[in-house]
Amino acid sequence: MASASFRWVLFITAVFFVVPVCTGQLSAGFYNATCPNLTAIVSNRIDTILAADIGLAAGLLRLHFHDCFVRGCDGSVLLNSTNGSLAEKDSTPNANSLRGFVEIDAIKSDVEAACPGVVSCADILALAAEDATRKVGNVSWPVPMGRRDGNVSIAAEAVAFLPPPSLNFAQLVQSFAIFGLDTKDMVVLSGAHTIGRTRCLHVITRLWNFTGVFNTSDPTMNATFVDFLKGLCPSNAPSQFVSLDSTGQTFDSIFYNNVLSMKGVLASDHELINNAQGLQIINTMLANNSFAADFGVSMVKLGNVQVKTGTVGEIRKNCAVINS
Ligand code: HEM
Ligand SMILES: *[C@@H]1O[C@H](CO)[C@@H](O)[C@H](O)[C@H]1NC(C)=O
Ligand SMILES: *[C@@H]1O[C@H](CO)[C@@H](O)[C@H](O)[C@H]1NC(C)=O
Ligand SMILES: *[C@@H]1O[C@H](CO)[C@@H](O)[C@H](O)[C@H]1NC(C)=O
Ligand SMILES: *[C@@H]1O[C@H](CO)[C@@H](O)[C@H](O)[C@H]1NC(C)=O
Ligand SMILES: *[C@@H]1O[C@H](CO)[C@@H](O)[C@H](O)[C@H]1NC(C)=O
Ligand SMILES: *[C@@H]1O[C@H](CO)[C@@H](O)[C@H](O)[C@H]1NC(C)=O
Ligand SMILES: *[C@@H]1O[C@H](CO)[C@@H](O)[C@H](O)[C@H]1NC(C)=O
Ligand SMILES: *[C@@H]1O[C@H](CO)[C@@H](O)[C@H](O)[C@H]1NC(C)=O
Ligand SMILES: *[C@@H]1O[C@H](CO)[C@@H](O)[C@H](O)[C@H]1NC(C)=O
Ligand SMILES: *[C@@H]1O[C@H](CO)[C@@H](O)[C@H](O)[C@H]1NC(C)=O
Repeated sequence: MASASFRWVLFITAVFFVVPVCTGQLSAGFYNATCPNLTAIVSNRIDTILAADIGLAAGLLRLHFHDCFVRGCDGSVLLNSTNGSLAEKDSTPNANSLRGFVEIDAIKSDVEAACPGVVSCADILALAAEDATRKVGNVSWPVPMGRRDGNVSIAAEAVAFLPPPSLNFAQLVQSFAIFGLDTKDMVVLSGAHTIGRTRCLHVITRLWNFTGVFNTSDPTMNATFVDFLKGLCPSNAPSQFVSLDSTGQTFDSIFYNNVLSMKGVLASDHELINNAQGLQIINTMLANNSFAADFGVSMVKLGNVQVKTGTVGEIRKNCAVINS
């Protein structure tokens, strides 16, 4: 609880150190002339990546999200720390958590071999997120391109802007509103937790120490599910992983059925039904069978957040370092 409100204070202050960036226009055929085979190159490499580890679909989708919520979708999440400055990827929410960096580098080198100096790392992230997600689920969305790469990455900004799982519904809504994403976007994009995993450290308090007394659990979690998760997340194993969803390799709407059955793993996932509007969005989406379509609409909005276009920013040669 204490850490939740502490984070939230940081979060509010974050609003004062954001540097607004003009949002330019992305376009569908941006690389048609300069890198005509781009989508095939990305797709081919993603096939290899997913064949080796299907979990990378979740990793790549989350990388794009974490990129867009800090300085917009500008590849800043990919930059390495330098001597003077700790980068986003080494911040508390991201370190030992994000995955897919090596894989993005592999895609980038394939792309550089075909069209050197043309395609931004930010666009590669957006393409990879869509391609990988489509391959694990019945979902796809258009990926307009033309994002350019930023040259700044600051760990404190990742702490400030990335919503922690301790936020309540109103705070989650607020954390998305900063980027022009509305309540429906927040509820729908949280459905990304239909794939992937979390470290147990985000769940252990709900399972083991909810009231501060050992072996007390969150009463809003199904008791049978609590026992199941306790087996996967012993109280002394914060670095172990547990799936965010019962069908964690497949992108489907079962995540929401689980949340409705009090089997959301993260507290923030449970928050989605702890509010009348959230509940209504979920029930409508399930009744309409529109999760896939709604997710695509919100992903396009996410991919447009504070993008740098035109002559702003650069096309990084190596996604981990700014051009010298
Ligand atoms: C609504 C606010 C959100 C919160 C509070 C949240 C929180 C989290 C947390 C705590 C984890 C586990 C991280 C760890 O173990 O260190 C996680 C994983 C993940 N998140 Fe979110 N998230 C949110 C929204 C999103 C959005 C919008 C997306 C993408 C569109 C997303 C995609 C993912 C994916 C795919 C994973 C699994 C990653 C993997 O398996 O490597 N999340 N999230
Ligand atoms: C780019 O190429 C694709 C496939 O060849 C085509 O469908 C699309 O219309 C083109 N877009 C533009 C803006 O040229
Ligand atoms: C496009 O890229 C794919 C995947 O790398 C490759 O198999 C194919 O030959 C390429 N096509 C052209 C026209 O370069
Ligand atoms: C970036 O950091 C990673 C992990 O520390 C390292 O493996 C990689 O070589 C670095 N890349 C560059 C270009 O410095
Ligand atoms: C960081 O410091 C090390 C050792 O002092 C030095 O070798 C390296 O060039 C520095 N790197 C950067 C990016 O300044
Ligand atoms: C349980 O929570 C209390 C209060 O937050 C804390 O002081 C204590 O260290 C926690 N115990 C364990 C085993 O995590
Ligand atoms: C936790 O409590 C449950 C009953 O609620 C009990 O069955 C279990 O043995 C306890 N576990 C530990 C480690 O104390
Ligand atoms: C909790 O989940 C179990 C197993 O899925 C189910 O049998 C039980 O009815 C659920 N409990 C409540 C209170 O819904
Ligand atoms: C769901 O379906 C209802 C009734 O057909 C319609 O009024 C509503 O606009 C739909 N909502 C969404 C989010 O598609
Ligand atoms: C796939 O998604 C489409 C559109 O979102 C939907 O109409 C269709 O029922 C889905 N198919 C499956 C097998 O889930
Ligand atoms: C980053 O880019 C901005 C604007 O493009 C430029 O003014 C600044 O000097 C660059 N900083 C570094 C460290 O390259």
